[in-house]
Amino acid sequence: MLLLQTLISLVQMINSLFVTSATGEVLIERHWRGVTPRNICDLCWDELNPQDKRSGTLSPLLHTSKHYLVSVFREDIYVIAVLAKEVPPLLVIELLQRVVDIFVEYFGAASEGLIKDNFASVYQLLEEMLDNGNPLTTEPNALKAMIAPPSVMGRLQAVATGKSNVSDVLPDGTISSMPWRKSGVKYAQNEIYLDIIEEVDAVVDRKGQVVSSEVSGAIVANSRLSGIPDLCLSFLDPEVIKDCSFHPCVRYTRFEQDRVVSFVPPDGTFELMRYRVNTKTNVTVPIYVTPVVTMSDQHNAGYGRIQIQIGQRQTSSLVTPNRKAPMLIEDVALSIPFPKCVKTATLSATVGTVLYDEATKVASWTIGRLTPNATKVPQLSGSMIIQGLAEGPPPIQVKWKVPVASVSGIQIAALQLKNERYRPYKGVRTITKSGRFQIRM
Ligand SMILES: *[C@@H]1O[C@H](CO)[C@@H](O)[C@H](O)[C@H]1NC(C)=O
Ligand SMILES: *[C@@H]1O[C@H](CO)[C@@H](O)[C@H](O)[C@H]1NC(C)=O
Ligand SMILES: *[C@@H]1O[C@H](CO)[C@@H](O)[C@H](O)[C@H]1NC(C)=O
Repeated sequence: MLLLQTLISLVQMINSLFVTSATGEVLIERHWRGVTPRNICDLCWDELNPQDKRSGTLSPLLHTSKHYLVSVFREDIYVIAVLAKEVPPLLVIELLQRVVDIFVEYFGAASEGLIKDNFASVYQLLEEMLDNGNPLTTEPNALKAMIAPPSVMGRLQAVATGKSNVSDVLPDGTISSMPWRKSGVKYAQNEIYLDIIEEVDAVVDRKGQVVSSEVSGAIVANSRLSGIPDLCLSFLDPEVIKDCSFHPCVRYTRFEQDRVVSFVPPDGTFELMRYRVNTKTNVTVPIYVTPVVTMSDQHNAGYGRIQIQIGQRQTSSLVTPNRKAPMLIEDVALSIPFPKCVKTATLSATVGTVLYDEATKVASWTIGRLTPNATKVPQLSGSMIIQGLAEGPPPIQVKWKVPVASVSGIQIAALQLKNERYRPYKGVRTITKSGRFQIRM
């Protein structure tokens, strides 16, 4: 998003944009340079097996002789951009993600039904977000000042007065030097919440050895502060932050000089900053997963056995405020893809539920909270019938979450407010969770 602001001058990014349902039905299309036929989307669907459509496994970048297709799948829809030349795809993906963010912000979700029900608003939003195929207004505060979100009140008023949903007045923000903040914000109770979320990407081998790891963090703020609050956030230990990027409201030079985050926040929820954690060694992860797979392949028909155990490690790189208290590991879930040669699998688990999808050959094992020193160790076991050449199984994806913990140990020293008289309530939470967390079999 931060990039978007600076690269706005890029010439003609997107030729056409399609929003489609999960099954590929075009819900809305916008064209900026000629009309790209709808059937270009078919290219995407040709890439996919029918059962994969809903899983969003479409390659985010496809190209034909003439065009590049960049797509994102989120919630229940695909947003596909058609480009004539090569533009940094991450930039386009970022913009498409923001389009979905805005739909969610406006309509509560981004489903096929909601897009159809709010066709006029969706069209207007795309109009404001993209100008001539380039990003224009992507800040929710500024958009909301121009296009009213569909609230019950708004609908009633429109019916009563016959007025359109487009606001007649220009948003104050766009003409001020702070396009991200609307003016005249007033709260009876002033409060700001900061969520520090660190994500661990790691590849772990079969023996539990971390082969590679990387930790990224984000600070997500929810600001409910009146007036024009000028905030300054400082850390006890800013050196744990390696690379960072900020929301456009942050005064970057202040961070360069003093390592403090100085900003006037937008109203509501926004991502204040992203950073990479300065880790010199591989992360010691808080869980262990031990998969054991045996496959016998005799004359193209055979049997296999699978057994996976998961548990909490005694030590990890995670930092918690109270080192003595046992760490809670929550929302534990495994996604176990089976190779194509597996015809059927019969699985059961000692803890949690396991579902095996015959079509995609993926088992989902949902465990929930890991209980330290539990009498029952979570274990999945089962058998498989193999047909064809036995291949090695793809890596297992593991999801987990540890509340009140971080890898960086980052701590907020102060969050000071200038030029407003009230004393806001401040809440800070930290949480560490899995990002792309893979166990090789
Ligand atoms: C205003 O928004 C509502 C709800 O999204 C919609 O039903 C209505 O048709 C819109 N009116 C106009 C004039 O665009
Ligand atoms: C992580 O572990 C792998 C394999 O043991 C090693 O090759 C790599 O250098 C380690 N990375 C760091 C940052 O220590
Ligand atoms: C779990 O067991 C370890 C040693 O076996 C012990 O040190 C620890 O206190 C136990 N934790 C809980 C929560 O019972």
